[in-house]
Amino acid sequence: MNAVEIEQAITNLADQDFDAAEFPFAFLEAFGNKATTIKRLRSKKGSSNASDIEGGVLQRSNIHIAVCAEGKVTETLGKLKASPTTGKAKAKFVLATDGNWLEAEDLISGETVACAYKDFPNHFGFFLPLAGITTVKQIRNNAIDIQATSRLNRLYVELLRVNEDWSSDERRHDMNHFMTRLVFCFFAEDTDIFNGDDLFTATIEQMSDSRSNNTEHVIGELFRAMDTAIEDRDAADLPRWANVFPYVNGGLFAGNKETPKFSRIARSYLLHVGSLDWKAINPDIFGSMIQAVADDEERGELGMHYTSVPNILKVLNPLFLDNLREQLEEAGDNSRKLLNLRKRIAKIRVFDPACGSGNFLVIAYKEMRAIENEINKKRGETHQKSEIPLTNFRGIELRDFPAEIARLALIIAEYQCDVLYRGQKDALAEFLPLNAMNWITYGNALHLDWLSICPPTDTAVKLVADDLFETPLEQAEIDFENEGGETYLCGNPPYAGLSSQTNSQKNDLASLFEGKTKYWKSFDYVSGWLYKSAHYMSHSNSVSAFVTTNSVCQGQQVPMLWPFIIGHGVEIKFAHTSFKWSNLASNNAGVTVAIIGLGLQGNEKKKLFTIDADCGISEKETNCINPYLIAGPEVFVQPLSIPVDGRPKMFWGNKPTDGGNLILGSDEVAVIVAQDKRSQKFIRPYFGSSEYIRGKNRYCIWVTDEEYEEANHIPALSCRFEEVREFRALSKAKETRPAAQYPYRFRQIQGTPGELALIVPIHTSENRDFLPVGLLPYGSIISNAAYAIYDASLWSMSLIASRLHLVWIATVCGKLKTDFRYSNTMGWNTFPIPKLTEKNKEDIAHCAEDILLAREAHFPATIAELYNPENMPEDLRHAHERNDEVLERIYIGRKFKNDTERLEKLFDLYTKMTIDSTKTDNKKTSQTKKKVS
Ligand SMILES: C[S@@+](CC[C@H](N)C(=O)[O-])C[C@H]1O[C@@H](n2cnc3c(N)ncnc32)[C@H](O)[C@@H]1O
Repeated sequence: MNAVEIEQAITNLADQDFDAAEFPFAFLEAFGNKATTIKRLRSKKGSSNASDIEGGVLQRSNIHIAVCAEGKVTETLGKLKASPTTGKAKAKFVLATDGNWLEAEDLISGETVACAYKDFPNHFGFFLPLAGITTVKQIRNNAIDIQATSRLNRLYVELLRVNEDWSSDERRHDMNHFMTRLVFCFFAEDTDIFNGDDLFTATIEQMSDSRSNNTEHVIGELFRAMDTAIEDRDAADLPRWANVFPYVNGGLFAGNKETPKFSRIARSYLLHVGSLDWKAINPDIFGSMIQAVADDEERGELGMHYTSVPNILKVLNPLFLDNLREQLEEAGDNSRKLLNLRKRIAKIRVFDPACGSGNFLVIAYKEMRAIENEINKKRGETHQKSEIPLTNFRGIELRDFPAEIARLALIIAEYQCDVLYRGQKDALAEFLPLNAMNWITYGNALHLDWLSICPPTDTAVKLVADDLFETPLEQAEIDFENEGGETYLCGNPPYAGLSSQTNSQKNDLASLFEGKTKYWKSFDYVSGWLYKSAHYMSHSNSVSAFVTTNSVCQGQQVPMLWPFIIGHGVEIKFAHTSFKWSNLASNNAGVTVAIIGLGLQGNEKKKLFTIDADCGISEKETNCINPYLIAGPEVFVQPLSIPVDGRPKMFWGNKPTDGGNLILGSDEVAVIVAQDKRSQKFIRPYFGSSEYIRGKNRYCIWVTDEEYEEANHIPALSCRFEEVREFRALSKAKETRPAAQYPYRFRQIQGTPGELALIVPIHTSENRDFLPVGLLPYGSIISNAAYAIYDASLWSMSLIASRLHLVWIATVCGKLKTDFRYSNTMGWNTFPIPKLTEKNKEDIAHCAEDILLAREAHFPATIAELYNPENMPEDLRHAHERNDEVLERIYIGRKFKNDTERLEKLFDLYTKMTIDSTKTDNKKTSQTKKKVS
């Protein structure tokens, strides 16, 4: 269950009549406990309920609940806390209630809740750890955003049920527009924008009948009033109860006034939403959540994957906010400097070309207002009207509802900031009517011209939209008030790797890159934003920072994509290396992202941020950040077909292309050998990545040209050869058809299969701390789902098993979903190895031997079991650590401090390695030239 579903469930529970006996179980059920868990807690015999308190229910590692007699809540809570079973069962919470009053304590943080029973759903954020949702500080503090979204969601679904035609593509915009109007009204009635507390909700409650025969008419009249200027009121013939509503304008209530039909349930949902206190709404968080309401696919998650404020600040702080704060600090009380800073801030433009509901824009706006307020305080001008124009916060959004919400979110944010910094009186005096300018563009950012949406030079306002929510065609015609100002591009464009792109997203990339590079089909979708921002920067005074899929900074995408970005004269100004994107979505897929800040090339220091082992952020200053997000010179690791030094060759495994006829399971081997013992000679153990890692037994028929005659006399084999022949002869691939002539052999054989070999899996989970390279029994055949080194030197194994190699391949080979994708040409041949002495090789070969022996000691555990980071055996981990230590001493004379340092050293060596090989090539060329001349 996600947080929204839980909120819904506990709201339902609190609305029902209190049932003392049932409450503990109903409470646990509302937090997502399964029916079987509840059954075990209820059961008389062998119950899992560990409580020693009357009427108590104690769920291990979770909560101790007791229902008590009236007025005994505080006393009972004390008993629950003091009970030895609470500690023994490691309960995290205690909760007591008598059905009127409820008290609870979080035993870990010491936080408490004491409230009327009916109000406990308002504290649901406090209880979220009970559902295993622990990383939700923002949500705990923003319960109102979840409650509002959850209730609007119910209303939206009910309205669509009653007004089926409104769910059609043609009517969806009307529906979304209607919801936006409601959101505005709920906010306005709780913030004195409307004259009277709860004026909107109360009017609907009073004027519409309880069977909801006229709710839509009442709402329609209210919306009409809000679209009628005061001077036109007499002629408009508005009912008295509607006439008290102000003129809102701004296009919000202009245009189509049709209101969907309201059922009784819809009416009651609407009143329920209105009963919330919307004053405290966070336009950034709420906006992100509410956009999901209008999206059939996302509705279940209700925007739970919105970008959290701390993550937004990871983008905005280094992009420009830190600099503004530094300047504020530096200005001290110097009035002139403060004024200059205020002027600078007023000219800053923030542009998010995938803005969703505008959360990056809202946070940027709020932070800038906070700085402006500090300036005003220092200058003694606290009532000063803000000089930061909302129209300097621009966005592009593909979906119309989020685009509408983005504008509304900014309007709300402006009002809240005015109340906070200038006082409600001033805020109210200037709020209505709303400004009719339109500054969020609804459209496809990869097709639109950013330079015309956010033009580099100042232009005057030429067009005022008559509907705030109809996008004017030419954004360039809206004044920016930013003559000479800076522009910051930011945002969190959609994550769509190569395999998850829709056809239309692929077409978007094609429109940008086709004709420029043939590799664009391998690009992540976000590369479109990097490319367009680099182009934008080459024409304007701007800097950008986007959250990106981290794969654009890894593997083969780097040399394919980055020359196009850098080619615009830009460089990486700052970056946040890969980090896990945690959010509240119940299907949190655990995307790993990076943040990349780009700007025109310059000599200033660059900043590289890394999340370290204890979740703190470390910052490093450097002259250059390369596209792998490593501090160091720009370099592109290119695949090498053969190693340039004396390291052993790594071969791709052997590809059967046999229709499955040369590959055998254990049962098939038993049958074939039982039929004819002579076949045994031709059957070999067969390993790809999954056989090796998961310990699956598979075999293959392996026959050399010389052995063919002999093997073909064995009927169980010859009939398989016939099948292979037919399969290959009929193959659609023209390279496969000639292989029908030798059906006893794999189609593609590399190296000397059958010799003692090291196996390197092609795919291995990123969760493992080490790459599980291994040594196979003599005679084994390695499939094309793995790589092989046939001379099996153990010092090579030490290198491949090292942390150094793992971080190298993670960076230069890249990943397939959550697995590292190994490649011999990219990962092994390019791996920087210092010159190894014979003694070095001997030492590290010993380390590899110790790794093998440690694995042996746990026979028959599989590689998957041994390398599960949760329970990797200590001796094996120790053997790997020893291997790293010995190897790293060879690299730098000590252990590396962390992976960042490892990568910096590797890139440094790689750069030297490529310079050296270029020098050698040049020398050879000039010698050849000399000879020729
Ligand atoms: C990951 S969300 C980020 C939105 C918001 N900043 C947030 O954090 O919740 C990406 C947004 O980009 C929008 N989007 C997707 N493709 C787009 C395109 N081609 N042009 C403009 N916006 C797009 C999506 O509708 C979505 O709102």
